[in-house]
Amino acid sequence: MLEKLLRKKTAAPDRSITERIAAVKSKQVPAHVAIIMDGNGRWAKRRNLPRIAGHHEGMKTVRKITRIANELGIKVLTLYAFSTENWKRPKMEIDFLMKLPGEFLSTYLPELVEQNVKVEMIGNFEMLPDHTKHAIQRAMEATADNDGLTLNFAMNYGSRLELVESFKEIATLIADGSISVEDIDESLIGSHLMTAHLPEPDLLIRTSGEVRLSNFMLWQVAYAEFSFTDVLWPDFNASCMLSAIEDFQLRNRRFGSLEGDGNV
Ligand code: IPE
Ligand code: IPE
Ligand code: MG
Repeated sequence: MLEKLLRKKTAAPDRSITERIAAVKSKQVPAHVAIIMDGNGRWAKRRNLPRIAGHHEGMKTVRKITRIANELGIKVLTLYAFSTENWKRPKMEIDFLMKLPGEFLSTYLPELVEQNVKVEMIGNFEMLPDHTKHAIQRAMEATADNDGLTLNFAMNYGSRLELVESFKEIATLIADGSISVEDIDESLIGSHLMTAHLPEPDLLIRTSGEVRLSNFMLWQVAYAEFSFTDVLWPDFNASCMLSAIEDFQLRNRRFGSLEGDGNV
């Protein structure tokens, strides 16, 4: 009898996750969720493990969160995996981080293909080591025809670098006479960013308690809803993701207007 009751108790969270998924799906789901995956190092430190153990554990979270994002019908999941500033870290840590895409994709690529996930990347591709480039290239090619969730890795990504590159492109077009200064508007700038083909993030999540952007999508998050959690990335799970989206669904996005404002 007791055993039966206990079994019931442990089964309950599963059922409630299923219920929560159904409830979230019955409302408007954010089309683009972007996540600053932070806290791997602290997760490892708390366990007296080397920082790279935290990165390895964080890779498993990527798998879990990709699955739930797909299940929820999110169109784009952008994951900040390595910033242009992360080159300042010790070589040994950088080398490990550069090997993670290869490990992640060699383990999970069949699953991503099967789930109709399309792998993409934003960031400076050329500066990556060859083995990292090959892993990403292979995954992008293998999933190119998929039209489910776009799993977009921000790898060697920096928003300021992205803006500098886009301004250079636009300046070149002006210099060669293809466009004039008057043609510069928000949509032209947006169309020269690495995210040109994607909708802007509706929801930006950052884990680990840090409340900053760290050079992530400065232009694109102009009207994103922000969600900060103290949970460290390796501990972030389906329930945490659902909580962020449930909270998002309660927000009133006004985009500068008075629409939805109870005082009007
Ligand atoms: C996030 O975890 C992963 C990367 C930035 C590559 P961190 O490595 O930044 O972990 P903390 O912030 O030191 O805990
Ligand atoms: C931001 O995290 C970059 C990624 C998550 C890839 P960091 O850990 O590098 O950011 P800071 O240094 O705390 O701002
Ligand atoms: Mg960090």
